[in-house]
This record gives sequence, C-alpha cells and structure tokens, in this order.
Amino acid sequence: MTPSKNFTRQLGLVLCLSAAALSSGLAQAKTFRMALGDNVGGTQYELGVKFAEEFKARTGGKHDAKLFPNGQLGSEEDTVSNAAMGTLDFSVLAVNNVTPFSPTVGVLTLPYMIQSLDDAVKLTQSDIGQTLVDNTVRDAGVRIVGWAYSGFRVLTNSKRPVTTLADLKGLQIRVPKNEIMIDTYRAWGINPTPMAWSETFTGLQLKVVDGQDNPYITVSTMKFDEVQKYITNIRYLFSIEPLIVSESVFQEQPADVQKAILEAGKAATEYSASFLVAEETKIRKDLTAKGMVISDPADDEKEWINTAVSQVWPKYYDQLGKDNLNKALKSLGRDQI
Ligand code: MLT
Repeated sequence: MTPSKNFTRQLGLVLCLSAAALSSGLAQAKTFRMALGDNVGGTQYELGVKFAEEFKARTGGKHDAKLFPNGQLGSEEDTVSNAAMGTLDFSVLAVNNVTPFSPTVGVLTLPYMIQSLDDAVKLTQSDIGQTLVDNTVRDAGVRIVGWAYSGFRVLTNSKRPVTTLADLKGLQIRVPKNEIMIDTYRAWGINPTPMAWSETFTGLQLKVVDGQDNPYITVSTMKFDEVQKYITNIRYLFSIEPLIVSESVFQEQPADVQKAILEAGKAATEYSASFLVAEETKIRKDLTAKGMVISDPADDEKEWINTAVSQVWPKYYDQLGKDNLNKALKSLGRDQI
C-alpha cells in the first residue's frame, strides 16, 4: 500500500470511529427543559434544583436540566399538555393542576384526606402513589418522577380576617381549575373564581379576586404579602407538587438515563420533605413581620371540615372509586367510608 493510500485509510478509520463515538452518546448530551409554575425559592424550585444536581451527577455530567421558573413556559396546565406532546421535557406543578388530566389523582386533593406531611409522604410513596403514577402515564402522557411537599394551603385575602364560613360570604376567591376545589368552596357557601395560576398574582393585584389559597411557602415565594393582608390556617389540602416528565421523552432515553431520572427524582423528593420542615415556620414568621395577619378557623375548623367532607366526598365516590379511597384511608390508619 502506498503511503498516501495508507493515510487515507487511517483518516477514514478515525472519521468512522469519531462518528461511532458521537452516535453512541457523546452527541446526545442534552440540557432538558424544566418548567416551574412558582417563582425561585419555593418548594418547586428546590425540588427542581436538587433534581438537576442529582441527574447531572448520575449521568456523569453528560445531561443537565435547566429550570424556567414563574410560569415562563406557560401556565401549569399548559405544561402538562406540552409535556404530553413531547415539546417540553419536565415540569413541576401543583397536583391540583394535574387532576384535570388524570382524575384519579384527585384522591390527593379531596378536602381533609391528607392531614399531615406524614400522610402526604405515605400516600405518595406507597402502592397508592405508584398507581397514581401509572394512571397519569395512561391518562395524561406524563410520568410523575418526584414529589415536592409544600405544606397546607392557607386562605389569604385582602379584605378581612376570616375564621368562620359566615366570614367567607361575599369574598371572591380564586381557585385552580380543579373540580374538587371548586366544589369545596361551593359547599362552604361561595362561588369561587377558577383562574390559571399564572394569572393569579395579577388577579389579586387588580382586585379581580379578593383572595386565594396556597401554602405559606408559595404565598411568600410569589410575594402575595404585597397584595394580600389576611391569612386563615385552613388545612383542607396539603399541597403536593409532582415533578413530571414527558412520557415520550422518557421512553426515548436509554435505560441508564431513565434510571438516572428515577433516582434523581427520588433523591429530590426526600430532600423536599426536609426543606419544608426547615422552612415553613421561618416563612410564617417572616410573613407576619411583613404585616400579614394570621387567624385560625373558629371551633377547631369543625364547621369547615364537616361541611366539606359531608358534601364533597360523596360526589367523587364514583370517579375516584370507593375501594381506592378506602385503600388510601386504611393506609393512613383512618376509618373507611
Ligand atoms: C395553584 O394554586 O394553581 C397552584 O397550587 C399553584 C402552585 O403551583 O404553586
């Protein structure tokens, strides 16, 4: 073989090897896009940051996730549709905004079903949680790979202290587009205003609505203290915020990347529970220092609880399945229906 033919052959070999290396993975390094409904600093953000760190470490630095906070990639509902279509990789959003796409997840938004962080962890980390993950893949085309725990949703408003259902009368309260939450406020005697999360701050600021409910951490992160004065510690919903991945994007990944996604999600979930415990009391104090006035519901919340449970639960027995509800209640050590 002449030197020039030899050189050409070697060059060909080098090019082939480079192409093979690229197609076997080097070329596929990717920065996945993650939408967040909330602003920087809250439980969604902390879950997302922890996930990104863990995911990068578990893929040897090859893959990464970039966070887009504060609804930059659309309303929380839009992010579910976009992930289902495969045009968005990840989203962290409130579970109440997943329920319209996957109704059985409503077991997590039935009023007073979850009564503590422990209950929230038990339900999401058990067989029941796995069934909800499977149902969400089936119904909505997205896979839940992690959970942020954000604490009880508290009622805020700009007009007056609220401790009884009578105090609530006449207030315009924004709710997510979630049937169970809408029905809960109806049971409490008012007609709430369904509104996308991305429009809520402006709605409160322009006084289109007087109030809303969300956890302390979210109230603080979203700077609601600038447009709301009163907080009522209703504890009807414990806010859980799943991290979802587009099922089509997930299925496109090789097994090692899928494994890294699942493991990073698990690590971020564990971190989320400790973040909540460390932050919630501090944030409550901070909101008081900023001038918010906090009240507890009168009579240990009995009126609120009895009205919501007696009127809302039976409406959802068929949709959620009494057996499923009983399974959930049993796992929490509570009386069955
Ligand atoms: C909502 O109220 O729509 C959500 O809870 C907002 C959030 O994601 O924090």
